[in-house]
Amino acid sequence: MKYYDRLIFELSKKGRTAYTLPESGCPAESIPAGLQRAQAPGLPEVSEVDVARHYTNLSQMNFGVDTGFYPLGSCTMKYNPKINEEIAAMPAFQGLHPLQDESTVQGALEVYYEMDKALASITGMKHFTLNPCAGAHGELTGLMIMRSYHMHRGDLARTKVIVPDSAHGTNPASAAVCGLEIVEVKSGANGLVDVESLKPLLGPDIAGIMMTNPNTLGLFEKDIKEIAALVHECGGLLYYDGANMNPLLGMVRPGDMGFDIMHLNLHKTFSTPHGGGGPGSGPVGVAERLVEFLPVPRVEKLEDGSFHVVRNCETSAGQVSAFMGNFGVILRAYAYILMLGKQHIKMAGKLATLSANYIKECLKDAYKLPIESVCKHEFVFDGLIDDGSSTGKPGATTLDVAKRLLDYGFHAPTIYFPLLFHQALMIEPTETESKETLDLFIEVMHEIAREAAEDPDILHGAPHLTPISRPDETTAARNPILKFE
Ligand SMILES: Cc1ncc(COP(=O)(O)O)c(C=O)c1O
Repeated sequence: MKYYDRLIFELSKKGRTAYTLPESGCPAESIPAGLQRAQAPGLPEVSEVDVARHYTNLSQMNFGVDTGFYPLGSCTMKYNPKINEEIAAMPAFQGLHPLQDESTVQGALEVYYEMDKALASITGMKHFTLNPCAGAHGELTGLMIMRSYHMHRGDLARTKVIVPDSAHGTNPASAAVCGLEIVEVKSGANGLVDVESLKPLLGPDIAGIMMTNPNTLGLFEKDIKEIAALVHECGGLLYYDGANMNPLLGMVRPGDMGFDIMHLNLHKTFSTPHGGGGPGSGPVGVAERLVEFLPVPRVEKLEDGSFHVVRNCETSAGQVSAFMGNFGVILRAYAYILMLGKQHIKMAGKLATLSANYIKECLKDAYKLPIESVCKHEFVFDGLIDDGSSTGKPGATTLDVAKRLLDYGFHAPTIYFPLLFHQALMIEPTETESKETLDLFIEVMHEIAREAAEDPDILHGAPHLTPISRPDETTAARNPILKFE
């Protein structure tokens, strides 16, 4: 048994303490009887070193961007510079309360206002709301704006939204939550939205189309200008899922491609820590004619240079979060944008694109590449070329490759997404990894392919070296045991 296999409760020894608190100056009788404990809380009795080891070991049983390479496609797990943390932790920001009078939070409002301007300049949109707290929340907000726009014009028949078959799952889900009907448009053999398949879907019932560019295969939708013209001609709007904005930073703007509404994932593209469902921020930007439908509250700058929170607007799509979004995430992303500046921001996208293409080209001799093309920041393989089934054993799957990578100290790529390919393995290296790290990853992926071809059972049993190997993932997610019994 390893040290960390024991729970901290199992290390408990009666009377052992980690720290002696000073005598309390507050007599027990001064606490109302109803609030006093009837019995001691039942905490483990351990020394300071036990506590330190307990938490340090727990932290090492997880995997994060700070512990290793994390090529989780579609999630943009780039390094989070520590300066962002320092700025978000500044007492003047950290101590803010959302109900403070606006005269006392002018600095925070200025950040909000300047961030709106920075994002508008990066994307070619007119204005942003920073209120949504995730990408999917941004999608819902954007679709509410789309719906408000059509309703405001009395165009009530527009109840359908077109979503490509390669879309991220949150796109149709957000549309459904917004009460819109989803119409799927097929991708062609080249992995791009098929313009000929799109044309017959366009009509007076279409509210708009949701697209991400590059799409979830990492491919740039080169027909976007034609698609924008067709959708606008039919009276619809274009929604841009900006979760894949990373490779376009400083190079191409969704506004210039013809998009009317978009969201960004600050927690991806702008390097704020995320994972396990949060924390996030999904600002939504709109073209000029849609600004009046943005959610409230919004921040405006008055003539005297001060900042004011606009809380009411008749045409607004409404309020989408309790206050004004996830301010800590906004601060981190703002610090990141200022740090790179206009001059350097384009290096992020260029390097991310170069890294993805480098890995793709180096590994396509061992993994099936379904679409031969220059990719943007990510790409998708469709499983192993030789899965080892010729050995008479069951062949190694994408799940097996992902699990085996953990033994080599890498986080697994995204698997079985997008749904277009049966054995999808989606790799996104980001711009923050060195060539040496990419080379090591390539070497390991080749080694895993060799293992699969010679003895796929090595992969079937993986991971062999992690504290837990393969839990039943449904039980682990639905019925986790989180306390000592
Ligand atoms: C393409 C795409 N769209 C939307 C989302 C949803 O973002 P979030 O997880 O913040 O809701 C993601 C998440 O990774 C994504 O990759």
